[in-house]
Amino acid sequence: MAIIHVDGKEHTVDGADNLLKACLSLGLDIPYFCWHPALGSVGSCRQCAVKQYRDQNDTVGRIVMSCMAPASDGTWISIDDAEAKSFRESVIEWLMSNHPHDCPVCEEGGHCHLQDMTVMTGHAERKYRFTKRTHNNQDLGPFIGHEMNRCIACYRCVRYYKDYAGGKDLGVYGSASRVYFGRAEDGVLESEFSGNLTEVCPTGVFTDKTHSERYNRKWDMQFAPSICQGCSVGCNISPGERYGELRRIENRYNGTVNHHFLCDRGRFGYGFVNNTDRPRQPMIKRDGKLVTISADEALLNAANLMKTAKGVVGIGSPRASLESNFALRQLVGAANYFDGHAAAEGALVKRVTEVLRTGPVPAASLRGIESADAAFVLGEDVMNTAPRVAMALRQVARGRATQMAAEKHIPDWQAIAIADIGMHHKHPIFIATTDATRIDELAKETVRAAPADLARLGYAVANIIDPASSAVADLDAATAERAKRIAETLLAATKTVIVSGTGAGSESVINAAANVAWALHARGKTVELVLAVPEANSIGTALIGASSIDEAFKAIEAGKADTLVVLENDLYRRAPKARVDAVLAKAKLVVVDHQMTDTAAQAELLFSAGSFAEADGTLVSNEGRAQRYFQVYEPSYYKPETVIRESWNWLHGVRAVALGQPTVWAQLDDATAEVAAVMPMLARIAEAAPSAKFRITGMKIAREPHRYSGRTAMRANLSVHEPRQPQDADTALAFSMEGHNGVQAGDRPAALTPFAWAPGWNSPQSWNKYTDTVGGHSLGGDAGVRIIEPAANAPKVPAYANHVPTAFKATTGEFLVVASQHIFGSEELSAKAAPMQSRIPAAHVALNAADAEALGLADGALVAVTIDGLSVKLPLQRHAELASGLLAMPLLPGVPFTLTGGKATVSGAAGA
Ligand code: SF4
Ligand code: SF4
Ligand code: FES
Repeated sequence: MAIIHVDGKEHTVDGADNLLKACLSLGLDIPYFCWHPALGSVGSCRQCAVKQYRDQNDTVGRIVMSCMAPASDGTWISIDDAEAKSFRESVIEWLMSNHPHDCPVCEEGGHCHLQDMTVMTGHAERKYRFTKRTHNNQDLGPFIGHEMNRCIACYRCVRYYKDYAGGKDLGVYGSASRVYFGRAEDGVLESEFSGNLTEVCPTGVFTDKTHSERYNRKWDMQFAPSICQGCSVGCNISPGERYGELRRIENRYNGTVNHHFLCDRGRFGYGFVNNTDRPRQPMIKRDGKLVTISADEALLNAANLMKTAKGVVGIGSPRASLESNFALRQLVGAANYFDGHAAAEGALVKRVTEVLRTGPVPAASLRGIESADAAFVLGEDVMNTAPRVAMALRQVARGRATQMAAEKHIPDWQAIAIADIGMHHKHPIFIATTDATRIDELAKETVRAAPADLARLGYAVANIIDPASSAVADLDAATAERAKRIAETLLAATKTVIVSGTGAGSESVINAAANVAWALHARGKTVELVLAVPEANSIGTALIGASSIDEAFKAIEAGKADTLVVLENDLYRRAPKARVDAVLAKAKLVVVDHQMTDTAAQAELLFSAGSFAEADGTLVSNEGRAQRYFQVYEPSYYKPETVIRESWNWLHGVRAVALGQPTVWAQLDDATAEVAAVMPMLARIAEAAPSAKFRITGMKIAREPHRYSGRTAMRANLSVHEPRQPQDADTALAFSMEGHNGVQAGDRPAALTPFAWAPGWNSPQSWNKYTDTVGGHSLGGDAGVRIIEPAANAPKVPAYANHVPTAFKATTGEFLVVASQHIFGSEELSAKAAPMQSRIPAAHVALNAADAEALGLADGALVAVTIDGLSVKLPLQRHAELASGLLAMPLLPGVPFTLTGGKATVSGAAGA
């Protein structure tokens, strides 16, 4: 700690910080541009100038850049000094000499860091009277708009895109003051994290194109604290709505999870909420067609079905909330509830929860990953299954430069010095997967192998680290050598993360990863585990504990049940079409969903469920963090005919009608409390967010900024009489601008913060006002509660997995089917978003290039693939690095469900 003096006042700060960060963390305002808490200081914009004095007797002082000066003990500075203020005012004038001043038509207006800083510095008069430099803009693809004339040349974009996120195709070009930030030529930005540019750029150069389609100002949106549904990582998001449409998703700061950044699937994949083909009223099938009915009719019909059924089974969903899954379980009975995973996938997810619950090694948060100095990725293509983990792993590699700088007493915010010192150095990451990945460039070593061989490598590494773990018989010399190299490197690290998951479709791979982590733990090393699972609430549904879809199917096939209730689940994504068709032909089908899936289209009764934007609920991430998402808006306010309710609300209602009893759950808290009471493993989920009773100075928390405009006119097309705002009985949030807002940011629990705003801070930089230190943790603690921690009584010598698989042997003419995933297209809901469509790869299958050559199959050739009796024709991709003997089936629209782990034959398709 250090004592610094700012404008005559004494403050205690972290002496390792620079003065800018230290002052911002104290709540003092200093304007800045090029500095960013995640990117460090480069001192290029000169906006953060303050006056620094030698000591208290120095009355002259000198201008310094606060982002480049250490917050050393005994520092004396002035922010308010007249010369410093005038300097800052001049700087912004220079920076804006070429700026078009087009705020009224700029999409950044109203949440613009440049606007905020202009007001903060007091720059009000424009003296520059000459022709401004102008640029041509580029088409950067479906996600990002480009308006280069607004650039102030702070260089944040390239520092973020290239240095932090590892992108290659955005750069700075030009000479002298004519600098251009963009691509070498028009084209789609390649980084999976390009969307963060919209928040990193302090002006309106990079904007969210999905929002441009239906644009409105930030202050005119209604927000809710929410959780991304795009994968199992559970990034915190701030979705914004206007006129009953979701208009944009921005990052919501969580110091333990995503902190400043999202991936592009999470940011741009929300369009499924607005799709017009969604069920927005309950429906019943009459004469082969789904027609709308009232809520009461739907509940009555469903209740009658339940009462007259010979047997009812319920299939839950890893993309639905805990409360909704529990409501289904309650409706059909625990014995008749199935958790919504396909058998093989469900078994893998259960193994993941077991490893995390019973083993001695904790799950890593994203922040936890970033603090490691070595990583071993076994079997998981995280860029495509848990993208934000890939970005965190990049920070592991970059950490070596920071460490090298620290050894030379260079602080961690000196971005240029660190980049120079560590230019050619990375912390070690080993990546062992079935095919090439988008983060291979980070790797000290990459390995391509079939799942069984990946598992054998993992087992071998673990055995070298701790010989008490299972040995691998008949290991080839090259793998043994490699295992030794990996083991020695991991043992030499201060903190290691082991990354694996369900992506390889192999329990052996998960077990091997667990063995490596446990072996390191047994050797006294600090280690954490990242185990990616398929969907946003896969872990939550596994904790509820039930059998898989296949068991539900068997009950219907055996005639034990004749009625099936499906919760937010498209069965055609979980089982072969022929089997699903046969099962549905034998059962009366009730579906509760917010999407018109192939399953929903066959329902006899369809309940119109709320998506995450119209519903409240709790999810458990792969970190074991229970997090609450809240309803963003009430759709019936804008379209009175709409009848959308949370799935748990519908299902609980059906139960009440069937039993002839009043509903027991009056609000979300009742549902959450009952889940917690009945499910010991979920006992703490109520702590994920404050209850509906929570108030600050007697007020609910406003979902709308206090400048929200047009409220009285929003429904004028329906009636000039403004109705009462919708009332939210479920939460402590109000559908209103009235209530507690961001003015007293610190009072508000992070789990209930819908958007960030503070006086003078309208841009995403205002999140700095919600944290204990800038870039640190949310005031009052980060949102969510970890409900999975290593068992307190876990034995020192762990119960190592010991089923070492035999080595994979390719069979002539047959290929082992493995799944492959893509960040755009493999997740069910985001794949339905319009802006995603041009980023989703075309349906295909992939073979190792040499295997394809041996079959005489050219890249792009149409091939016939036969797997378990199912034949499909798809174009072939030759992959140079896919392990030989494997056939990769992508999880993409247009590719039918196939069982992975089976055998496939491939031949040229007739007519190709
Ligand atoms: S485009 Fe934005 S982030 Fe990049 S240099 Fe210009 S103002 Fe800064
Ligand atoms: S990493 Fe996953 S949870 Fe995070 S933003 Fe991307 S899709 Fe959403
Ligand atoms: S923020 Fe300090 S020089 Fe740019």
